[in-house]
Amino acid sequence: MNSSRLCCAIWTLFTVLLTGCLYGQTEECKTSMYPPKGPTFKGSVQWYTVNLDEPPVTRWDGVIKDKKNELVAMIQAIKVLANSLVPSGKLIDLVDNGLPLMLGSMPYPFNEEIQGISTASGVPLGEVILFNIFYEVFTVCTSVVAEDTHGNLYHGRNLDFGLLMGWNHKNHSWALTDKLKPLAVNIDFKRNNVTVFKSTNFAGYVGILTGVRPKLFTLTMNERFNFDGGYVGILEWILGNRDGMWMGFLTRSVLENATSYEDAKKQLTHTKLLAPAYFILGGNQTGQGCVITRTRVNALDVWEIELKLGRWYVLETNYDHWEKPFILDDRRTPAMRCMNKTTQNNISFKTLYDVLSTKPVLNKLTTYTTLMEVSTGKLETFLRECPDPCSPW
Ligand SMILES: *[C@@H]1O[C@H](CO)[C@@H](O)[C@H](O)[C@H]1NC(C)=O
Ligand SMILES: *[C@@H]1O[C@H](CO)[C@@H](O)[C@H](O)[C@H]1NC(C)=O
Ligand SMILES: *[C@@H]1O[C@H](CO)[C@@H](O)[C@H](O)[C@H]1NC(C)=O
Ligand SMILES: *[C@@H]1O[C@H](CO)[C@@H](O)[C@H](O)[C@H]1NC(C)=O
Ligand SMILES: *[C@@H]1O[C@H](CO)[C@@H](O)[C@H](O)[C@H]1NC(C)=O
Ligand SMILES: *[C@@H]1O[C@H](CO)[C@@H](O)[C@H](O)[C@H]1NC(C)=O
Repeated sequence: MNSSRLCCAIWTLFTVLLTGCLYGQTEECKTSMYPPKGPTFKGSVQWYTVNLDEPPVTRWDGVIKDKKNELVAMIQAIKVLANSLVPSGKLIDLVDNGLPLMLGSMPYPFNEEIQGISTASGVPLGEVILFNIFYEVFTVCTSVVAEDTHGNLYHGRNLDFGLLMGWNHKNHSWALTDKLKPLAVNIDFKRNNVTVFKSTNFAGYVGILTGVRPKLFTLTMNERFNFDGGYVGILEWILGNRDGMWMGFLTRSVLENATSYEDAKKQLTHTKLLAPAYFILGGNQTGQGCVITRTRVNALDVWEIELKLGRWYVLETNYDHWEKPFILDDRRTPAMRCMNKTTQNNISFKTLYDVLSTKPVLNKLTTYTTLMEVSTGKLETFLRECPDPCSPW
């Protein structure tokens, strides 16, 4: 990095921080935002079917056929960013030549699906692998599982993506966040022509960040920043230590094959991972909702809904729940304040959407809001926008 680049990076950081301080204050809890409309709603998300009876190599063809151009545009944006960090183009060479060698060590069916996506889109294999790694590293989010007074469980989440990925000074937006929205799709995964689970995905990514297995459980994943964090595990994986699992592959396997809330919880608690993570899991009956705080090897803590203690919801952003959030990134307190104000009597898709629409729970990184109801298997996704004044994260 030469000095003008360093200076530019520092300047960007400074203006982003300043914007954060100016606009980061929390606002009054929103009301009457649902059904979504107005300037914070950028459109619905289209449904696709992925047939699990089809070979992995071709099962994403339908999605990719529609989203090829958007995928190419996103990968182009990632390349521009990579080249601005390491101008020689060496980073992309490494991706194109090095990463394909890793495919063989990815588990079935993910290896074949990724190969298929590369073939169907024409995007080089290494770049599709990079795209699949990206989500494991750069997502910050808010997730909540709540139980109403009838024992119904709701699960909502904001997916915030693209932190520090190309801040645009003119219109105050993040380059990758903008590119990502057109890639959002809802997927109905079927086997024997019946739904196994549904998810909100990004076309080209084979893991799962947000999903529901109708009648059984709902699941979202949030990033957990940690000293022994994602980078260490991912580096180890590249260097040949392959006994940890990608987080998004585990959530996908759980949604595809776990048979109950308890089974899902067991797998999410015990499987060795490449990086720390939070899993937010909702079940299908009273008391079944938890936040699993993971290290790479085990669960540090499982925090559950406990009605007797007045805990009718569990809410997770990107900090361990027993510790204070980072002072410049407190989305937890405003979200909890609005949940508390809503009360258990009034929790529903409508009020959950209100909570997830309150700044800074809604911020410049927010790509989509998803609402899920386990009993009906309903999953709704809304693309989001956060017009100024709005916090950058
Ligand atoms: C901001 O500007 C960039 C580049 O001009 C554009 O691609 C992007 O869509 C804009 N974003 C918003 C939210 O207006
Ligand atoms: C799949 O299910 C749909 C409705 O659930 C039905 O219309 C269709 O005929 C079924 N297709 C096959 C191949 O069984
Ligand atoms: C789920 O289980 C089936 C049957 O054992 C297996 O073929 C499939 O690969 C599994 N799915 C995932 C994502 O691991
Ligand atoms: C809840 O999940 C269990 C499996 O843990 C299943 O047996 C039961 O039928 C489900 N209940 C409902 C109401 O779907
Ligand atoms: C919300 O309510 C819970 C449970 O009563 C309490 O522990 C928490 O401090 C409250 N949070 C806020 C921000 O009001
Ligand atoms: C919540 O529900 C209670 C009782 O069901 C009702 O009195 C109150 O007005 C509701 N509050 C809101 C904000 O809708």
